[in-house]
Amino acid sequence: MFRVRVSKYPEQAEAALLAPGNAGLRRKMIRSALRSSKMLGVWSASGRQRGEVQPDSSMQWDRIEDEIHVWHAALDRDEKTIKQLEPALSLGEKARAARFHFANDRNRFIRARGLLRELLGKYLQQAPASLEFSYGKHGKPYLSGENLSSELHFNLSHSAGLAVYAIAKKRNLGIDVEHVRAEAAGEDIARRYFSAREVSDLRSLPPEARVEGFFHCWTRKEAFLKATGMGLQIALDSFAVSLLPETPAEFLSGVEPRWQLAAYHPAPGYVAALVYDGGPGSLKYFSADSQ
Ligand SMILES: CC(C)(COP(=O)(O)OP(=O)(O)OC[C@H]1O[C@@H](n2cnc3c(N)ncnc32)[C@H](O)[C@@H]1OP(=O)(O)O)[C@@H](O)C(=O)NCCC(=O)NCCS
Repeated sequence: MFRVRVSKYPEQAEAALLAPGNAGLRRKMIRSALRSSKMLGVWSASGRQRGEVQPDSSMQWDRIEDEIHVWHAALDRDEKTIKQLEPALSLGEKARAARFHFANDRNRFIRARGLLRELLGKYLQQAPASLEFSYGKHGKPYLSGENLSSELHFNLSHSAGLAVYAIAKKRNLGIDVEHVRAEAAGEDIARRYFSAREVSDLRSLPPEARVEGFFHCWTRKEAFLKATGMGLQIALDSFAVSLLPETPAEFLSGVEPRWQLAAYHPAPGYVAALVYDGGPGSLKYFSADSQ
């Protein structure tokens, strides 16, 4: 059974807060929400309160409407679970799984793809094995075949045994998760990948806040690359994102206003970011860990 974590943040308020140009209001609300511990994972804020967990019986899978659903799941599962998921994979996915050298990597791939198929199958009311994927010029997967017309979009990311998925209708989506680790967050890497503004913001942080700031920046930039589907064809210094703690996740420059950015903590030790277009939307966060 899926466990469903629903944001308690009122949808209208959330939409208003997400609207471009409301940065001042957002800052005020974030400070107030952090004080009262009512903030859920919508912002880069610490997500101290995780929201209500509900059984999936309350979920209307075929009625996603204008919402954006954000899932997370642990990838390390027992062999029995992996074996149950594997038959739903396509021949190409099975071949890809077989190319992994280490069993752990292979199992994580099977779990991530198998769960993607299970989730999309529930939204589309179809068997997971029947779903067809095609890939864009730079590798972005999308639903094809008879489900192309469903206009259901998705994107996924995985890091150190955790997967995140974004699912919505008629929106381009990009999601990125990273395990926060000091060894990957050096200033030389920041200078190579980040814009001048981002490097300067990172340097303004006290040393103990820099690793998390680095990954806020990385995931937000990566989520944008993934939302466009262009990957590294987009120059990384051509746009800037916020990264300072307790400030909203937002684009600072170089991005068309149609793109929205949100950030959250899917699990302790991880940061994640989501980019979507199509106007402000209501985000809901779910866990598939009991699946
Ligand atoms: C491939 C890329 C999309 C992301 O790679 P990544 O961060 O290693 O991997 P993630 O776990 O976040 O995402 C992988 C998933 O994204 C999806 N994906 C692949 N290509 C994609 C693309 N062009 N656009 C969007 N999604 C894509 C796939 O579903 C993939 O999952 P899979 O293993 O099931 O096939 C691409 O952006 C890339 O190569 N990035 C390099 C990293 C980098 O330099 N980032 C700079 C940030 S400052």
